[in-house]
Amino acid sequence: MILSNTIPTPDNFYWPPSESILCAKLVGKAIIVTWTDNKQSKLHPLWLRDNCCCKECLNQVTREHLFDLRDIRLDLVPLSVEIDSQGGLSVTWPDNHTSRFNPAWLYAQTTQQLSPRDDEIMLWSSADLSEPPSFDIPNGNISDELLYQVLLTILRQGMVRLRGLSTDEAQVEQLATRIGPIRETHFDRIFDVISKADSDTLANTSHYLAAHTDIPTRESPPGIQILHCRVADAKGGHSTMTDGFRVAKDIAQQHPQHYKTLTTKKWCYANRAGPTDYRWEAPIIRLDDNGQPIEVRLLPFSRAPLQAKYEEMDSIYAALVCFMGKANSDDYQINFPFSAGDLIMFDNRRILHGREEFYPKTGDRALRGTYIERDDILSKVREYEQRRQQQSQ
Ligand code: OGA
Ligand code: ZN
Ligand code: ZN
Repeated sequence: MILSNTIPTPDNFYWPPSESILCAKLVGKAIIVTWTDNKQSKLHPLWLRDNCCCKECLNQVTREHLFDLRDIRLDLVPLSVEIDSQGGLSVTWPDNHTSRFNPAWLYAQTTQQLSPRDDEIMLWSSADLSEPPSFDIPNGNISDELLYQVLLTILRQGMVRLRGLSTDEAQVEQLATRIGPIRETHFDRIFDVISKADSDTLANTSHYLAAHTDIPTRESPPGIQILHCRVADAKGGHSTMTDGFRVAKDIAQQHPQHYKTLTTKKWCYANRAGPTDYRWEAPIIRLDDNGQPIEVRLLPFSRAPLQAKYEEMDSIYAALVCFMGKANSDDYQINFPFSAGDLIMFDNRRILHGREEFYPKTGDRALRGTYIERDDILSKVREYEQRRQQQSQ
């Protein structure tokens, strides 16, 4: 029997047995592994040596490298290679150091696309959804399985709503800290969204809030926003949400010139009520290395004066107006009531949120909110998936 899972990997994760190694041979300096499904992996000696997970090369508790890459010979060629008695790949180096590789780990690393869950992102407009994907939580109990589904929903659609929660003031912090540490900002760690006279943000008035992302006044705006509705007695105050990535995609197709402007020309956002003085300049749409939108930053009411040449102003304003027009239009924006006991959680760098005006004379309205980061969600989802895999053994 092949006990590939007893062969160490450079991490603490469980790699379920997958394909086995049919044959491994040295071709020049490369090791060519053929798998039982006939796939082949061409392994580079530097990569293999770098990923050795023996005691000398890897701290066995922290799973961090001890091997110092300055000690690697850049002209390294393996001395020999074999499949060991447990089905692992065993590579011996010219200095007689031997590295062993777990086949399940090696197969996953070299034949599968390990990177992100991008393929699962589902862009949406109001034709696809009329309210956020929702989960009812009648007895206040959010199981790990349910939380996993909630987090997957955020990764896919960028937002989720939990309904029927208590209106307890600790709710938002309890949920946030189950996922990851709170991302503090210069607003309070946990903040109340209520209408008040001495507010330092329009959010804490009863004004209409156009589609926006929070705190692009910071170099790194918070990744995930959580808002819990505790009191919803006032008339008005419906919530709005727009998928900024979907708007970006459509502008790219329909108005390439505006898209170019939105992805390259910077707007500055500033928190100007003082005494702090946070401000940051960045394009409204930030692209990743593959040219796909990775972040939207738009807080129309915190715009600082545009710093651009006179000749560029027409196109920069036109591009902003185009984005705002779509982001606030019925074609893209959904509008739904925010009831006491509802909680929304959304990707603040993808989804633009907003609210209708509300009327404090007709009753109170109180939300409590906080932020965590986007990669807190990714980490928690992977953690749950790891645990599931281990439990299924
Ligand atoms: C905010 C905000 C929305 C609302 O606090 O950032 O946008 O519904 N609030 O009050
Ligand atoms: Zn080693
Ligand atoms: Zn906001």
